[in-house]
Amino acid sequence: MTLYRLIGLAAAAAVLGWGCARMPGAQTAAAGDATPRLTLYTRLGGQPAIAAVVDDFVTNVAADSRINGRFANTNVPRLKVLLVEQVCQATGGPCAYTGRDMRSAHAGMGITDAEFNALVEDLVKSLDKFQVAEPDKNELLGVLGGLKSQVVGR
Ligand code: HEM
Repeated sequence: MTLYRLIGLAAAAAVLGWGCARMPGAQTAAAGDATPRLTLYTRLGGQPAIAAVVDDFVTNVAADSRINGRFANTNVPRLKVLLVEQVCQATGGPCAYTGRDMRSAHAGMGITDAEFNALVEDLVKSLDKFQVAEPDKNELLGVLGGLKSQVVGR
């Protein structure tokens, strides 16, 4: 069986909800909840889907004149790697974020609410483009929204 066929079968199994609890890396909800629940990471489509969304998102940011000036001196490939790690880890995936904490990364930038919202808008565009389901989209935005106070006004 080829690797692609295996991945295809695993994806189909994930979609149909088969054997989720037994899949390597799959995590279920806290004890007491009768229904095993896939992590947001898995529901989003794992590493390849997250990498595709981050790639598209960074392209949107680069084209967004409201905020692209902020990234003029940024190593964009490195930023993409860190964003994928961060989203992967924050959604329950098998990754370890290796970048700076959000407070240090944005210290001294004086990022405004409007800039934060612009960046979120750019992300929503990508999540919609990749047809991320509404509940999954909202959950991810909730996780990132929770970081706002560490990013804005620092
Ligand atoms: C929840 C929202 C955000 C998240 C999750 C986030 C995440 C990150 C991450 C992971 C890094 C890399 C950290 C490192 O270098 O170790 C980073 C850097 C950076 N972020 Fe954000 N960010 C957010 C919002 C923003 C906003 C709104 C702006 C400005 C409009 C911004 C501007 C930057 C810049 C310019 C850098 C690069 C700094 C450098 O080149 O050293 N970020 N961000």
